[in-house]
Amino acid sequence: MPALLLHLLKKTALTGAVAPSSRFLASAMVRATGEARHVVELGAGTGPVTKELRSRLPNASLIAVEIQPSLAQQLRSRFPGLDVRQDLAHEVLDGLVYTDPVVVVSSLPFRSLPKDMHDVTVTSIERLLRRVPGSKLVQFTYQPRAPFEASADFQWNKTCSVWRNAPPAGVWVLQSLPAA
Ligand SMILES: C[S@@+](CC[C@H](N)C(=O)[O-])C[C@H]1O[C@@H](n2cnc3c(N)ncnc32)[C@H](O)[C@@H]1O
Repeated sequence: MPALLLHLLKKTALTGAVAPSSRFLASAMVRATGEARHVVELGAGTGPVTKELRSRLPNASLIAVEIQPSLAQQLRSRFPGLDVRQDLAHEVLDGLVYTDPVVVVSSLPFRSLPKDMHDVTVTSIERLLRRVPGSKLVQFTYQPRAPFEASADFQWNKTCSVWRNAPPAGVWVLQSLPAA
């Protein structure tokens, strides 16, 4: 396969969207975070959710993670002073040392990510949520089902549907179940 085509296919699988999230979806994602003190945004892209997080949670610490160098650079220009990590989501999550609850706000396209990347990312998210009780993941999906299969000690809840987005999306929250 020609290198350019392969590159485009990989980029499409990583992006998983036809357009940036609408302000309605961004707003619904931030509502689902609640009163967060620490937020890590995965797959920030051009920053529609980042913008909403900065304006609605001005006192929370925020790290924005984006793997594509050009998008990470755009984020740095658009949001001066923001902690932008041009890195893979799981690498950043594995290096975090929070002891207070953290909200992971993700736009990662789990249904189209390559399987190995999907698996290591889910493992890192679950490890962080288990390690810091009270933490949660806020994730949107275009599919009529949960964004990914979580382990048995976790529970998904759908918070809302956002019709004013192309395509319409559901906002879901993942939290670990209290130990039996
Ligand atoms: C669906 S787009 C969302 C962009 C933006 N947050 C929005 O809502 O419009 C997903 C983003 O995740 C990034 N991405 C995909 N896999 C990633 C990974 N493993 N680590 C970090 N970023 C990743 C892609 O480069 C892309 O910018």
